[in-house]
Amino acid sequence: MNKTAITAIHAFEVLDSRGRPTIEAHIKLACGVEASAQVPSGASTGTSEAHELRDGDPLRHCGLGVRNACKNVNEEIANLLNGSDALNQPAIDQLMIDLDGTPNKSRLGANAILAVSCAVARAAAIATGQPLWRYLAASRTPVLPLPMVNILSGGLHASKAMEFQDFLAIPWAAQSFAQAMEWITAIHRSTRELLEQRGAYFTGVADEGGWGPRLKTNEEALQILTRAIEHAGLIPGDQVSIAIDVAASHFFENGEYRLASENRSMDAAAFIDLLETWCKKYPIVSLEDGLEQNAWHQWPSLTKRLGSQVQVIGDDFLTTNPARLIRAIEANAANAVLVKMNQIGTLTETFTVIDTARAAGWGAVISARSGETEDSFLADLAIASGMGQLKVGSITRSERLSKYNRMLVLEQTQTIPHWSQSPALLPPRWAISTG
Ligand code: PGA
Ligand code: ZN
Repeated sequence: MNKTAITAIHAFEVLDSRGRPTIEAHIKLACGVEASAQVPSGASTGTSEAHELRDGDPLRHCGLGVRNACKNVNEEIANLLNGSDALNQPAIDQLMIDLDGTPNKSRLGANAILAVSCAVARAAAIATGQPLWRYLAASRTPVLPLPMVNILSGGLHASKAMEFQDFLAIPWAAQSFAQAMEWITAIHRSTRELLEQRGAYFTGVADEGGWGPRLKTNEEALQILTRAIEHAGLIPGDQVSIAIDVAASHFFENGEYRLASENRSMDAAAFIDLLETWCKKYPIVSLEDGLEQNAWHQWPSLTKRLGSQVQVIGDDFLTTNPARLIRAIEANAANAVLVKMNQIGTLTETFTVIDTARAAGWGAVISARSGETEDSFLADLAIASGMGQLKVGSITRSERLSKYNRMLVLEQTQTIPHWSQSPALLPPRWAISTG
């Protein structure tokens, strides 16, 4: 038998960072190699994401159990892949897609399929004696990515204390990943100090580890983050810029963007005006889901207005879906895609999205979910993508740190070019200093 043939697959129900069930898949190869992978889960999900299969049994985990998805791995998928060569990732992923037979992986579950897809890749990397990032990169040029790090949270990740979901810091002028994280921890600390001065009361952190305060307005978060960068001894815009994930679908009601905490609503044109004003007033360089996920007619206007200044990212809008990405590229509807493996459900399709974005001259940001696990797979994926950008939340929860810490160790133990050595990867406004 081929040494890299799959000889066993098992899936187990484990828990994610919100204490909800998720899947861990284990793979064995004929050569004796064993590997596993865990899958994450979103909260502010896009409607065209692949289907996450939940048991729906109200007596267990409020219906969120994944025993049926595990059973699908242990029976149908294990039977299908037994004897397949783990080195042939595209064939394995295609076999699972065909076995599922639905357009959105709803029969077997994208969670079941993705757990196996990632565990296969990890086993193949071990069997061929390569670090995961090197194996995944194949012919792509690996790059140590620039992190965009969540500092303040709102939306569905922080009980809607404010509507905008993520306010993030991009330490783009740092000269190493280690320096980037040092700057970020300083900004995270100074943000807390500023919030305390304003009387914010802390009982914990939001789903991605950022501060989730109740502020008077969404704009106040931008004021605080800009000040926090200064308080950390850094120069807003020149050293550290700001990204926002608006996650606009989640406060789009009856045709309007409704900022309930501010008691006001806007149509798309007024909302684009507001975003443009903020992009001029604050050092914002990246804007994610600035419009709701079905606004195909308005995304091109947003990109036309802001795209030369700002990275315009589609997350819920594009859902790591190759067909939606191609449509958006043809319509000039954004200029970057957020990449979340579980939005599409296989590693091969994830790379299709990454490579399609690259070929179109778009950016791609490799991203975690708000419900994560300690699996650091996506740190390696981010390096392997060669796209130079990473988004995995804040710095206070270990499911986030498993990715950041993997980067910190890889930076010191492997020779991987750093984002600043590939300035063409990042939007033009980020005048990367290579000195
Ligand atoms: P989610 O949030 O994982 O809850 O979808 C992350 C994001 O919107 O980027
Ligand atoms: Zn998002």
